Amino acid sequence: MAASSLTFPPDFAWGAATAAFQVEGGWDADGKGPSNWDTLGHRPGGLSGGATGDIACDHYHRLADDLDLIARLGISSYRFSVSWSRVQPDGRGAWNQRGLDFYDRLVDGLLACDIQPALTVYHWDHPQPLEDTGGWLNRDIAHRFADYAAGLARHLGDRVGLWFTMNEPLSVMMANLNGFRTSDKVDPEAALRIAHHLLLGHGLGVAALRAGGVSGQVGVAVNLSGMRPASGAPGDVAASARAEAFEDRLFLDPMLRGRYPHLDGRPVVDGDADDLAIIAAPLDFLGVNWYAPARLIDDPGGPFGYARAVEPGAPTNMLGWPVVPEGINSLLTWLRRTYPNLPPVYITENGQPLPDEVDRTGVADPARIDYLSRCLAQVQAVLEDGMDIRGYYVWSLMDNLEWDHGYEPRFGLVHVDFETLTRTPKQSFHWYRELIASQRARVVSPGRGQTC
Ligand code: FCB
Repeated sequence: MAASSLTFPPDFAWGAATAAFQVEGGWDADGKGPSNWDTLGHRPGGLSGGATGDIACDHYHRLADDLDLIARLGISSYRFSVSWSRVQPDGRGAWNQRGLDFYDRLVDGLLACDIQPALTVYHWDHPQPLEDTGGWLNRDIAHRFADYAAGLARHLGDRVGLWFTMNEPLSVMMANLNGFRTSDKVDPEAALRIAHHLLLGHGLGVAALRAGGVSGQVGVAVNLSGMRPASGAPGDVAASARAEAFEDRLFLDPMLRGRYPHLDGRPVVDGDADDLAIIAAPLDFLGVNWYAPARLIDDPGGPFGYARAVEPGAPTNMLGWPVVPEGINSLLTWLRRTYPNLPPVYITENGQPLPDEVDRTGVADPARIDYLSRCLAQVQAVLEDGMDIRGYYVWSLMDNLEWDHGYEPRFGLVHVDFETLTRTPKQSFHWYRELIASQRARVVSPGRGQTC
């Protein structure tokens, strides 16, 4: 689809996203401590292909060049995360000024180009000392997290437009359930304890950011699928309802309704009423990360009694996810119907992994352009239907370390050669830049009068 056939409101935010562990590298630079993901990468058999985040895209040392790339893309907002172990290596107490300086430079560099900083406080990497005391299994981390959020509010509260307490708490819970953590894999009951602690951390984090007087808006980014039964069989229909309760609604119901989803008349987690009151703190916006819908079948062997089935007729990408752009329309429509008090929504991640592109320069990625433009056409349809959607962020600005999958799945608009660290904009970069330019959608944030 040609970029010009899409039409979005003039103040719609156009962005791209990254996360600290996936791009920064500099894993022990300037006083940074080890994180749980550093430890995992350093453990034999930890991440696919022996990958580590030691260098990643070396964004930590190449900030000026990367800011140039971001400016060239023409986005109006850039979503990034702060590495907790870079700014507060022990997870409590002392702050590492040199780590904070990096985020000062990043935020100031964005503002100099009128690009709104969108900051995720926690995108899965926490200081190893906190992992050593149980990570998210230990309720205390929720309080440590709030203290960390308060520190970021003090340091950056006057300059960041959008604050996300955390990214995809469901994925953190699932990683623990599936064993992608430095300790042993947990059972479903422990996974739900982790979910509760993440939610409490989120609620305390919202309060800490607001108490810290941040000038920007406060929200969270959740990953949602959109659940449908694989067949009309009662077992599959019940499986889909369970998947909705344990995934799409597990975090949203407590945040937006102050209670856990119910199954068979009982809440799926027995949450303390005082905790739930903290968790339900009003949000200024909701970030939605969306990649693929799900079809569910009954599976008594699954941790919560269901499993994903293949999506009939849909191709799958290199991570095995079905490629179904229309699914974002169904998901957003479900979201709007399910939560009448829904705050404004940002699509905070959407993208497509491709193997290293085959031509010599590695930049031909028509499948990405096709996927993104088809998803955007769906987002436009939902907007036209009256849903309050404020912006869209491509995952990702550049190829990076895809967590446990290592460096092979490439989500970037910019190709990164992981031998030389050379950045090369792909076709999708030029397509996205053209699209943004055609929408004339720049959100002007308080620039600081510097030359971009
Ligand atoms: C999301 C993560 C993001 C990235 C994409 C592909 O679940 O939030 O960091 O890995 O998937």
